[in-house]
Amino acid sequence: MIREMPLWPDAFEHHAEVKSSITVDIFYYKNRILSMILMVLVGANLMRQYTTFRQLEIFDAIARFKSFTKASEALYLTQPTVSMQMKKLSDMVGVPLIEQVGKKIYLTEDGHELARATREVFDIMDRFTMSVAERQGLKQGRLRLMAISTASYFAPRLLGEFAKRYPGIDVSLRVTNKEQVLASIANNLDDLYLLGQPPLDMDVVVTPIMDNPIVVLAAPDHPLANVKNIPLNALVDEPWLMREAGSGTRNAIERRFAEQGIVLRPRMELGSNEAIKQAILSGLGISALSQHTLVMHQPGQFAVLDVENFPISRHWYAVYPEGRQLSVVARAFLDYLLARPQPAGLQAP
Ligand code: PGA
Repeated sequence: MIREMPLWPDAFEHHAEVKSSITVDIFYYKNRILSMILMVLVGANLMRQYTTFRQLEIFDAIARFKSFTKASEALYLTQPTVSMQMKKLSDMVGVPLIEQVGKKIYLTEDGHELARATREVFDIMDRFTMSVAERQGLKQGRLRLMAISTASYFAPRLLGEFAKRYPGIDVSLRVTNKEQVLASIANNLDDLYLLGQPPLDMDVVVTPIMDNPIVVLAAPDHPLANVKNIPLNALVDEPWLMREAGSGTRNAIERRFAEQGIVLRPRMELGSNEAIKQAILSGLGISALSQHTLVMHQPGQFAVLDVENFPISRHWYAVYPEGRQLSVVARAFLDYLLARPQPAGLQAP
C-alpha cells in the first residue's frame, strides 16, 4: 500500500490514488514526475510573467542588508512599498522567502536559493550592461564598491572624481567593518573592495593602490611633541588609545611593538578613528592612526611624534574574488586608481 501526501494541486490528484500493484505504481510515479515537471514549468512561467526585476532587486537588497529599513534606504523606496513588493514576490513564488525573528531577518532555504538565482540574473545583466558600456566607451554602467572603515577618508573622494569623469556610471560605496567586508567578498557581492589588509584565507586578486602610513599622534602640547627619534619603549607607559580588536590599524600597531618584545596595554578602546582623535585632543592619551585620518585637519592640530620604527608603512589594496570577472567599469576604476598620483592629504601635516 502506498499512501502519498499530495504534493501538487487537485487537478493532478487523480493520479495519487492508493494502488497495490507494482505496475500501477510505476505508472503512478511516471505520471507524478510528469506532473511535477509540468508544475515547475507552469510555476517558472508564472514567475517570469508576474515577477518584476524591481521585486527581485528589492529582495536582493533585503537579502544583503537583512533589514527592510536599510533595503528601502538603499533603493530610495518607502518601507511599505518594500514590504508590499516582498509580499507579492513571496505570494508569487508560493513559499516564504524570509523569516522575521524579533527584529532580525533571516532567509529561508528557498530564500537563499532565490537570492543565489537573483544574483546570477543580475550578474548576467551587469555583464550585458557592461558590454554595452564598453561599446559606448564607459558612458553607462554600475560600480559597487565596499570599503573598510578607515578607507572612508579617501574612498568617497576617489569615487567622486571617477564619477565626474564618467557621469553616466552609477556608483555606490558602502563603508563598513572588516567582518562585513569579508562576508561580502566571500559571497561575491560587490565589484571591488578597498582594504588595508587583504584576507589571507580567501582566493582574491590584490592590487596595492596607495600608501597607508600609520603615524603616532598626540595632542600638540604633549611633552614628546618636539622630541626627535623617540625610542619605542619610551611610549610603553603612555596612556594608549586603541581601536577595537580586529581593526587593521590596531593589528599593525600591536605587531610593530611585539616585534620589539613590547606588549601595549591600551588605556581605552574606542570604536572609530574620529573618537580616538577627539580623545587625543582632550588629553586622554596618544594613539597611532592612518595618516589619511588627518586629511581634513589643519596642519599642527595634532602632533605627529617622531618615533623610531614609525611610521608603519602599509598600503591600501583593491581586492576582488579570484573567480570574479571584473566588469569594464570596475576595471576602469582600478586603472584610474593606479594611474592617479598619491593624494595631497598624505603629505605630513
Ligand atoms: P581598520 O582597517 O579601519 O579596521 O583599522 C584599516 C586598515 O586595515 O588599515
